[in-house]
Amino acid sequence: MDWQNQKVVVLGGSSGIGLALVKRLVAAGASVVAVGRDRAKLDDALLGIGGQVTSEALDCADRAALGHFFGGLGRIDHLVMTLSGGEGAGPFAELDLAALRRGFEAKFWPQLEAAQTALPTLRRDGSLTFLTAISARIANPGTAGLGAINGALESMIGTLARELAPLRVNAVSPGVIDTPWWDRFPASVKSELFRQQSETLPVRRVGQADDVAHALQFLLENTFMTGAVIECDGGLRLL
Ligand SMILES: NC(=O)c1ccc[n+]([C@@H]2O[C@H](COP(=O)([O-])OP(=O)(O)OC[C@H]3O[C@@H](n4cnc5c(N)ncnc54)[C@H](OP(=O)(O)O)[C@@H]3O)[C@@H](O)[C@H]2O)c1
Repeated sequence: MDWQNQKVVVLGGSSGIGLALVKRLVAAGASVVAVGRDRAKLDDALLGIGGQVTSEALDCADRAALGHFFGGLGRIDHLVMTLSGGEGAGPFAELDLAALRRGFEAKFWPQLEAAQTALPTLRRDGSLTFLTAISARIANPGTAGLGAINGALESMIGTLARELAPLRVNAVSPGVIDTPWWDRFPASVKSELFRQQSETLPVRRVGQADDVAHALQFLLENTFMTGAVIECDGGLRLL
C-alpha cells in the first residue's frame, strides 16, 4: 500500500494500542488524525512523532461531536476504533450490572456511533476496523460481561462487511496487552496477572501495544481482508 496517499483516523490514538498504531502509520508515511478526549494527553503522546499527524480532542460517546468532527474532515481512507471502556469485569453472581451497562456505553456504543457517523466520509472501498477483546471468544471466569461487550461488536463484523461492501470491515481481538488500560487495577493485581500470563501463554510473554498495532496495520493494508476477526492474544484462547 502506498501510505503516502492514505488518510487514517484513529479513535483512541492518545494511548496504548491506538497510539502504537498512530506511530506505525505515521512512520509508514500516512496522514493520521489521532482522537482522544484529553487535549493535554494527546499533545503529550504525539510530541516528537513528526510526520503527518494531527489530533482532535472529542468524546466519541457524543454523537453530535462525532458528526461535527467527521463533517469537517474531508474524505478519509480508513477508520480504526481503539476506544477503551474498562468496566464490566467480575464473577457473574456479584457482577455490578450498572457497571456493565457503563462498559457498553464506553465501548460498544461509541464504536458503533463513530462507525455509522463516519460512513459518508469514508472512501467507498476504504476500511473500518474495530478493536474488540479475546474475552468474547474464551470462557474465562470473571469475563462474561466483558465478553458480552466485545462479542456484541464481533457478531456484527461479517454482516457489516457484506452490507457496506466494497468498504472492508474487520476487527482485531487482543489478549492481555501491557498498556495504561491496566492502570485502573491495583499494581499487585496487574503484576500477578502479567506474571501468570508470561508463564502460561504459549508465547511466554504478555502482549505489547505494537503487537496489536501490527495486526491492525495488516488489516488496513491487505485489501483481500474483510469480515475477519484476527485473534492477537499470544495463544490465550487455546488454554
Ligand atoms: N490492554 C489490554 O490488555 C486489552 C485487551 C483486550 C482488549 N483491549 C481493548 O483495546 C482497546 C484499547 O485499549 P488500550 O489498552 O490501548 O487502552 P488505553 O491505553 O486505555 O487507551 C484508550 C484510548 O481510548 C481513548 N478513549 C477512551 N474513551 C474515549 C472516548 N469516549 N472518546 C475518545 N477517546 C476515548 C483514550 O483517551 P482519553 O482517555 O483521553 O479519551 C485512549 O487514547 C480497548 O477497546 C480495549 O477494550 C485491550
